[in-house]
Amino acid sequence: MSLLWTYHQQGSHLLLQSSLSNILRSIVTTSIHTRARQSPYVGTKDVQRTAVPDSKVSWKVNWPGYKATEYTASKVLKNPPWADDPDAKKIKGFNEFDGKIDRRSFMGEYEIDDKTNRPRNPAGRTGLSGRGLLGHWGPNHAADPVITRWAKNQPNFKGKVLEIVLINRKDNNHLALPGGMIDEGENAFVAAKREFLEEAMNSNDDAVVEQIDKLFENADSIYKDYVDDPRNTDNAWMESEAIDAHDETGELTKDLKLEAGDDAAKVKWVQLDRVRNLYASHESMVRIAVKKHGAYEYWHDNQHSSETTDDTNNK
Ligand code: BGC
Repeated sequence: MSLLWTYHQQGSHLLLQSSLSNILRSIVTTSIHTRARQSPYVGTKDVQRTAVPDSKVSWKVNWPGYKATEYTASKVLKNPPWADDPDAKKIKGFNEFDGKIDRRSFMGEYEIDDKTNRPRNPAGRTGLSGRGLLGHWGPNHAADPVITRWAKNQPNFKGKVLEIVLINRKDNNHLALPGGMIDEGENAFVAAKREFLEEAMNSNDDAVVEQIDKLFENADSIYKDYVDDPRNTDNAWMESEAIDAHDETGELTKDLKLEAGDDAAKVKWVQLDRVRNLYASHESMVRIAVKKHGAYEYWHDNQHSSETTDDTNNK
């Protein structure tokens, strides 16, 4: 009902789409974080998080003796340009956007500790305090481009199959969307486009940028959420926004020369015909795009295997 209300009141196609995305999002996302409680902390051999049982993840559950392990990586403490001051008391504007850094959370307003001025992870306890590997106190925003078109050779499934641009990440060989962190001054659309150019095109040539600009002309934000990421801590966490750019006719992408760059070891068009166990929350993002475009919903079909990485090279 609210969907129709929004549509009739505003008469806006875009608003209808974003309401639809919210509904789809609530269907595919899960709640309690697990990767954010894994030990040892990612990138270390010996940093053990305090064990947090499922029943005590929520801050609403009283746990007077809770003491998280304090850890911030030395490269973050060195105060590089992408990181905040080590002292959270120096940060102004939590829960705000100062025009450069967006410290607002997709989860709503988060709490700030009175004594330390540290933000509190809205998804609950992680067993680790400090920032771990993350630069910002509070939310750290990433953007993920979801670039799709219809597969040329349609397999005989119960619907039309999409293909999507995926990379193999250099750090863990996982199949992933070619996304990355949003830099100061960028919004998710700008960051998704830049990351796509860096990781999937390895180019900044004017002609290539123009091609990608065209592809992003009708881009749409389809997912914005907290991510259950192994880097998360009690005071710093990842949030991602997925940007969907779909090439309905295939014309805009037919001459695209994919080339892996930056954090990507490989890049390819991959048919969305079976579950492939993608990195972070990328599977949820891809499913929203599949539903949005009315494509074959491969995850309902058990005959297709699940795998962590993928080296099929379907161009
Ligand atoms: C990755 C994104 C991912 C985010 C949250 C970023 O480092 O580049 O693709 O969505 O982390 O896990």
